[in-house]
Amino acid sequence: MAIIRNSKTIAVLPVFILYISFSSTLVSAVSFKKLPLPAPGPESYAFDSACHGPYTGIADGRIVKYRGPKTGFVDYGFTAPNRSKQFCDGTNNTDLAPICGRPLGLGFYLPKKELYIADASYGLMVIGPNGGAATQLATGAEGVPFRLPDGLEVDQLTGFVYFTDASAVYNLSQVNQLVSNHDATGRLLRYDPKTKQVTVLLEGLSGPSGVAASKDSSYLIVVESVSSRIQKYWLKGPKANTAEVLLNLTGSPDKIKRTARGDFWVAVTVQTPTHALKGVRINEAGTILETLTFSPKYDTSLIVEVNEYKGALYLGSLYPNFVGVYRP
Ligand SMILES: *[C@@H]1O[C@H](CO)[C@@H](O)[C@H](O)[C@H]1NC(C)=O
Ligand SMILES: *[C@@H]1O[C@H](CO)[C@@H](O)[C@H](O)[C@H]1NC(C)=O
Ligand SMILES: *[C@@H]1O[C@H](CO)[C@@H](O)[C@H](O)[C@H]1NC(C)=O
Ligand SMILES: *[C@@H]1O[C@H](CO)[C@@H](O)[C@H](O)[C@H]1NC(C)=O
Repeated sequence: MAIIRNSKTIAVLPVFILYISFSSTLVSAVSFKKLPLPAPGPESYAFDSACHGPYTGIADGRIVKYRGPKTGFVDYGFTAPNRSKQFCDGTNNTDLAPICGRPLGLGFYLPKKELYIADASYGLMVIGPNGGAATQLATGAEGVPFRLPDGLEVDQLTGFVYFTDASAVYNLSQVNQLVSNHDATGRLLRYDPKTKQVTVLLEGLSGPSGVAASKDSSYLIVVESVSSRIQKYWLKGPKANTAEVLLNLTGSPDKIKRTARGDFWVAVTVQTPTHALKGVRINEAGTILETLTFSPKYDTSLIVEVNEYKGALYLGSLYPNFVGVYRP
């Protein structure tokens, strides 16, 4: 999901929100590359155990895999069981998600090369090691159907799949209403591949769009895009099964991704006073370690993911028909 907050919505936001002011670094000396895509909207990225990729889900419902500069992106898989390439390929119309699929969150379980997917219309899915059609794993939890499955993380130590359903009321075609109504029916969920059960970890979340697990599997970090805040959910220790707010952000945060070092990048779109697309790197305490501004070089209206992989930052968004790659 990506949230474009219009000025009307800004005006009704409670004024008591404590905004953190970033010390902003303008990215200028870095290289910026575009990897062309067959359709727009690379929302999220994944890499397999052979370090191949990125893999990404695009607006026409495909999951595509990058095969290097010569070949570019090729089809890897799809989520809509009856997806017609002729009808769907190349579309950017999200209203077609029920027909073409719309993979939003992606993550490999590396030991088995299984690609888990949070699809906006088809729920939690998985694609086997050879690609192709996805298998549906869950479409709801505790009697409540998913409306907007969004962020996803696979814990490599436990094999648990953590994902978010951004709302129990509004779907991908209704994101504007989700934002203007300050929806707070989102949930943080866990899928256990052994029991095939989905457990609700947190509910009452406001547009939960991203989730990341710590390197040692002791906690999760969850982003609420509508309330612009970041929560920590403890999986282990004395605070297990409880959450605390780590950080309030300025602008609309979306996906969160852990780095190999163990810290986290949050993608943040700022609308006012100046439009800016940022990556905010935080640690386990919610302390901001670094802020990068990708616009105007990354010229699109919003950013939804910053995914650091082998020294490069892969930028996700809903609109461009390329993958933006920053290399410092
Ligand atoms: C975030 O904002 C809320 C409400 O404005 C405030 O109560 C809370 O203390 C803030 N939390 C942090 C960690 O800044
Ligand atoms: C699959 O697509 C075909 C042709 O577009 C259509 O006739 C059929 O009803 C579809 N089946 C499902 C389950 O959507
Ligand atoms: C959202 O829900 C409406 C009403 O149920 C439906 O018409 C529309 O196709 C749905 N959109 C998506 C993307 O699933
Ligand atoms: C979708 O594509 C059409 C035609 O190329 C373009 O006019 C429109 O702006 C695009 N919409 C989005 C949301 O990218």
